[in-house]
Amino acid sequence: MSFRIQPAAPARPNRCQLFGPGSRPAIFEKMAGSAADVINLDLEDSVAPDDKAEARKNIIQAIGDIDWGKKTLSVRINGLDTPYWYRDVVDLLEQASDRIDQIMIPKVGCAGDIYAVDALVTAVERAKGRTKPIKFEVIIESAAGIAHVEEIAAASPRMEAMSLGAADFAASMGMQTTGIGGTQENYYMIREGAKHWSDPWHWAQAAIVAACRTHGVLPVDGPFGDFSDDEGYRAQARRSATLGMVGKWAIHPKQIAIANEVFTPSEEAVAEAREILAAMEKAKAEGAGATVYKGRLVDIASIKQAEVIVAQAELIASS
Ligand code: COA
Ligand code: MG
Repeated sequence: MSFRIQPAAPARPNRCQLFGPGSRPAIFEKMAGSAADVINLDLEDSVAPDDKAEARKNIIQAIGDIDWGKKTLSVRINGLDTPYWYRDVVDLLEQASDRIDQIMIPKVGCAGDIYAVDALVTAVERAKGRTKPIKFEVIIESAAGIAHVEEIAAASPRMEAMSLGAADFAASMGMQTTGIGGTQENYYMIREGAKHWSDPWHWAQAAIVAACRTHGVLPVDGPFGDFSDDEGYRAQARRSATLGMVGKWAIHPKQIAIANEVFTPSEEAVAEAREILAAMEKAKAEGAGATVYKGRLVDIASIKQAEVIVAQAELIASS
């Protein structure tokens, strides 16, 4: 417990982040017309080294030319361990229109990484007289990133969102898998001869949620590589939502509807949350701090739980 009030995360929907390579401008209009809340135009790992310069130009032009509606528009820059990232930042901030909302910094390992990008962004914003400050989102996808997750969440007032990047994370941790998220064949327990699979991403996800909630940042689940496996994606997204994450990436358009479905509280869940709030109002009027709802205990903590669901539904309905 703390006397400090937990800061609220940004009040905008972030159920699905749709990615597309900056070197493939033919899909930008389709991305803009999709039902994703956030668009991530990529300069990093989906763009080959020889295409980086062209991809920057494509993205800068598309930011100004395409009608992105009310979507949050983000560009993933290259990592700080590459020779590309400073040029990504400088060109975007010098040349892109104000429609750009945030940049995504991959492979963040410590708060100093955010400080470095913040310093460069701040200098270019001042030099260019940009009045809309660029926000940051980051990917936790290394052992260092997860080890320093809390200082990263706290590193800058620009911080809006943090995603788990399963593939690079697995590689950095030395995990024996080539899968991008989801169930891992060898991560099981045995009971009475039967295998029961558990979730190797759970710890990192929970650590990210805790760091984000402490510092008012949106926690997001990253990519699920097998875009033919709708049920696998849905199961991964449901686990993330249960842990407190607000959304998930889509690396193919067919994943968007599933993310929106999972991260929009269902009508039944909202109705039940409202009933719990009503039951607690009644209990309060009668001078009680706890009561019984459908045969189970609800108390003052239940109000906060129910309010999370109602607030999420209202935020999405009003956006
Ligand atoms: N956003 C919007 N539309 C997309 C899209 C995307 N990311 N990926 C594919 N499409 C479109 C295609 O253009 C095609 O449109 P059409 O029906 O009008 O022809 C349709 O969706 C079906 O595409 P499909 O043929 O199934 O896929 P593909 O072979 O063209 O592309 C990928 C598959 C995985 C290469 C592509 O989806 C992609 O590049 N995804 C993003 C990768 C990325 O950014 N990774 C970095 C983050 S991990
Ligand atoms: Mg990555």
